[in-house]
Order: sequence, then structure tokens, then C-alpha cells
Amino acid sequence: MKKKITVIKGDGIGPEIVEQAMLVLDSVASRFSHSFEYQPVLAGGCAVDAFGTPLPDETVKACLECDSVLLGAVGGPKWDGLEPALRPEKALLGIRKQMGLYSNLRPAKLFPELAEASPLKAAIAAEGIDFLVVRELTGGIYFGEKKTVIQDGERVASDVMLYSEHEVERIARVAFDTARKRRKKVTSIDKANVLESSRLWRSVVERVADEYPDVEYQNMLVDNAAMQIVRKPSQFDVIVTSNMFGDILSDEASMITGSIGMIPSSSLGDGTRGMYEPIHGSAPDIAGQDKANPIGTILSAAMMLKYSFDMEQEAACVEEAVERVLKQGYRTADMAEEGKITVGCKQMGQLIVAAMEEQ
Ligand code: IPM
Ligand code: MG
Repeated sequence: MKKKITVIKGDGIGPEIVEQAMLVLDSVASRFSHSFEYQPVLAGGCAVDAFGTPLPDETVKACLECDSVLLGAVGGPKWDGLEPALRPEKALLGIRKQMGLYSNLRPAKLFPELAEASPLKAAIAAEGIDFLVVRELTGGIYFGEKKTVIQDGERVASDVMLYSEHEVERIARVAFDTARKRRKKVTSIDKANVLESSRLWRSVVERVADEYPDVEYQNMLVDNAAMQIVRKPSQFDVIVTSNMFGDILSDEASMITGSIGMIPSSSLGDGTRGMYEPIHGSAPDIAGQDKANPIGTILSAAMMLKYSFDMEQEAACVEEAVERVLKQGYRTADMAEEGKITVGCKQMGQLIVAAMEEQ
């Protein structure tokens, strides 16, 4: 198969982690006789520096005309002082919106090899962590009206959290359909005891749940959920939640699996074209030092193979290689452990490619 991949390396550690993921994709291509054509484009802080805008039109065009997008990370302190429209994060939100990527999947899975790296008590981690956060990605408070006005001589700011029925319904369907392929349990997370948008959310998800009698379903308030994720993570299979709650809970979920550097994500809409990126940020403090963990990005590339290109076997080959390298005792600095071998970003990438070739 021939696939066109738009590549956005971004800022901070973005370029180094994406380079390793591309080497892994190259290895998949040669091994399974595919051809991946990469189109590099700029977005985020580097695009602000080069073009004066975080999301150039050419980048949007490249994202809309490819088979899928691979992204590293955007942002950094250098651009923090910019006005909201010029912030690097704006690029990410713009791409998600313009590509219609409303469904964001973030798996939180504890590799047995990393049990020691999890900050949870061994007894809790031993029960297993394997759940999937399904985050709504193009609505909610991220995209509602924002403004700052002067009222009674002081600044007053607001962000509107808005959801319409069809937005909730389509993400709920993604959650239930996905749960059918897993352990058949959906937990919908909201703040329906306070927020009107959450009450709408809950009533729509409940309606969809009725159509899936074979899937166990429960609601949970977001504050309780934040607590349950560290108290008993094994109770979760699929979590479905709004844009902002999903942002927060997926960081929490990733940390209990050992390192945020390990977690990939897929963002999809109605078609097969998606965007794939690790859930961590651009980590400017370690950028350019060959210290970053490329595994989140490499596993994101594996998700791309599976969800956008229908290449199950190829994805499994990448995932197995990652597990094998962890089993061999190699770790990047973020998950360094006594008795294990700490390696840099490049070497981790090379080890994974080598493990694929051994299979
Ligand atoms: C994420 C990030 C982004 C988000 C930021 C960088 C805009 O935190 O993908 O989780 O909030 O969606
Ligand atoms: Mg986040």
C-alpha cells in the first residue's frame, strides 16, 4: 500500500521523537512492502517564527490532503507571552477542528515491565491498568465563546462550555462501539450535579447506552473519577468524557502507567484520516539533548497503522517490539530504574527498529 503522511514535528522534543517514529515506519514499510511518503510541514511555535502564524494555510491544506498526520508536540516558553490567536496551541486546536477530529482515544495501559515505575502502590498496580479514555475533541469549553470585558473597573473573563446533542451522541457511539471490542464497560464522566452542559451530556449518553444492552454502563462525577483512577484503576474499561475533563483525566491516567512519555493517541472524525500524537507536551527543558522518550510517538504511529491504514499486523509488530525492548531492560530517563539500562531517544528508537527486524 502507498500512503501519504503529513508530518508535523513541532517544537521542543517534537523533532527528535518524530524522527524515531519515522524510522519505525520506514522499517514497517520495507518489511511489509508498503510505501510511506512523508510531507513535512510546520505548525506551532516554529511556524510562528517562520511565518508569523502558528497554523499556516499550507499546513492545513497538507493535513486535509493526506492519508494521515503524525505530530510530535507544539509550544514552549518562548511563545507563552504571545496573544491567544498566535499561541502554538492554537495550531493544534485549529487542525483538530478543521479536520473534524472529534474523537480522541488515549489508552492507559500499564506494561507489566513498568509496574515499578508506576507511582501507585504495588498492590493497586498489580490489579492491572488497561483502560481507554475517549475524549470529545472539537467541542466543549475549548471551542465555546471566549471573552474578556471590563466590568465595574476590573477585567472579567469567560469561556463558554457548550455541547449540542449530536456532538455528545457521536462520541458516545465511538465509546460504546469501542467497548464492544474490549471488556464491554463504559463509564461516562461529567459534572451533572452542577453543570447544565453535563446534564445534557448525561441524558444523551444514557439514550445511546439503551441501544447497547450488552455493554455495562455507568455515570461518574469527574471529581470522584479523578479519585477512582488512583484508588482502583482496574474498574475502568472505556471512559467517555468531554474535551476538558478528558484533557485532565488522561494526564492523570498516563502517569499511573509509569510515564506520560509512553502514551499514544489517535484523533479521528468520520473517515479514516486522522492525526496521531503522543499525549505529552514539547518538554522544552530537555529538548535537543537526546533524552526524550520516543515510545509515545512510536505507539502513536502504530495506532495510525491500525486505525487509518487498516494494518493490524504491522501495528502489532511495532507494539511487540516496544514490549520486547522494555523486557530487555532498556528505559529512557523519564522511566529510569535501578538495575535497568538508561538510553537516549535515538538509541531507544534504534532498539525498537532492531527488535522489529528480529521478529
Ligand atoms: C493535549 C494538550 C492540548 C489540549 C494543549 C496543548 C492545547 O494538553 O493534547 O492534551 O489541551 O488538548
Ligand atoms: Mg493535555
